Amino acid sequence: MKSRIFKAALASMIAVPVATAAFAADLEVTHWWTSGGEAAAVAEFAKAFNEKTDHNWIDGAIAGSGGTARPIIVSRIIGGEPMGATQLNHGRQAEELIEAGLMLDLTEIAEAEGWADFVNPSKLLDACTLDGRIYCAPVNIHSTQWIWLSHEAFAKAGLDVPSDWDEFVAAAPALEGAGVVPLAMGQQSWQTNLAFGALAVALVDDAAWTEVNVNKNAEVAGGPDYRRVFEAFDNARKLAVGSNVNDWNQATNLVITGQAGGQIHGDWAQGEFQVAGQVAGQDYTCLPGLGFREVLDTGGDAFYFPKQDDPEIEAAQKELAALLLSKDVQVAFNLKKGSLPIRGDIDMSTANDCMQKGIQILNAGNVLPSGDINFSRDTQNQFEDLMTTFWNDHSITVEQVQADYAAIVAAAD
Ligand code: GAL
Repeated sequence: MKSRIFKAALASMIAVPVATAAFAADLEVTHWWTSGGEAAAVAEFAKAFNEKTDHNWIDGAIAGSGGTARPIIVSRIIGGEPMGATQLNHGRQAEELIEAGLMLDLTEIAEAEGWADFVNPSKLLDACTLDGRIYCAPVNIHSTQWIWLSHEAFAKAGLDVPSDWDEFVAAAPALEGAGVVPLAMGQQSWQTNLAFGALAVALVDDAAWTEVNVNKNAEVAGGPDYRRVFEAFDNARKLAVGSNVNDWNQATNLVITGQAGGQIHGDWAQGEFQVAGQVAGQDYTCLPGLGFREVLDTGGDAFYFPKQDDPEIEAAQKELAALLLSKDVQVAFNLKKGSLPIRGDIDMSTANDCMQKGIQILNAGNVLPSGDINFSRDTQNQFEDLMTTFWNDHSITVEQVQADYAAIVAAAD
């Protein structure tokens, strides 16, 4: 705040615009956080940057989720129109940009700030590291192994809220009878792929999951353990007939308003329940591992800083990187985002029941590497295309989709 007043005073004394003054940089920050909960969360970053530094946050929100935003972000960087900073998922999404020398090396700032001492789990810092150098500032842990259930919808059907996926499936006819769509699902391919991933984590054991997702074992992907997952996924697509929405937050809204029974989705859905004034345990229930396994992946978001030949911008980039991981900013942002902080040393006692569940699972060490860490973006795109094609074309059989899945795993990088 002090710096704002100073900037305003300076502007009135001299006739040049403040943005051209030597101490301040305008930093364009791109991200795909445009839903109600997401916008509230990213506003915490902007506020902290504007109040605590001399620089200005220029918001570059891109609507339409990561699937739309990522190619725009990457092509701007490759095409010589880099932004000051950008959200991506930590993991392998920026690998090629880093290899091409287009991203700012943050190692010095990470060491000065002691990131290695508090980033938890430490693997998250590895997900920002290439050849021993750190290229991103991780800001949260997001997990995708959840189902979000509407109390209002189950009340309409005269049923208790289910405690696992099997009970959810068993409840579907009664939900339908009460005019409720059992499963909410948006039409973007990453959403169907996310649901498949959540079913896989819930239904296969660790060994089979690791074989497919870490060791890329096509035999296990095409075998009996994964057959169960595809059968459940086949069931899921039938339960979602009637869910005619596109964006993930529209699907969450069907759950919030009791028009749908549940949504298999990432924990960022919490931001929407929060904005709608709903209370975990009272208006909605969250089941990690779809009620079968208390396990989370450690995906999430990170900020990358495309290189720019401008020392003022670079100074602002480094200040933002440090600020994003600072204690207060981590608490304020993650409480609104519904994600877990990347610091193990901060007080999250005001987090809601669902976040507390997530924190407990994390503290117990029941974590898995995320798809963004295990697979290249190209392989992820192939999974997404396959899952959404199967989801929408009910003439494709479980046998066919599983064979195609195993083929992608066999060629995966
Ligand atoms: C994910 C991102 C989350 C959330 C979600 C939906 O890729 O990690 O922060 O925003 O997309 O937009």
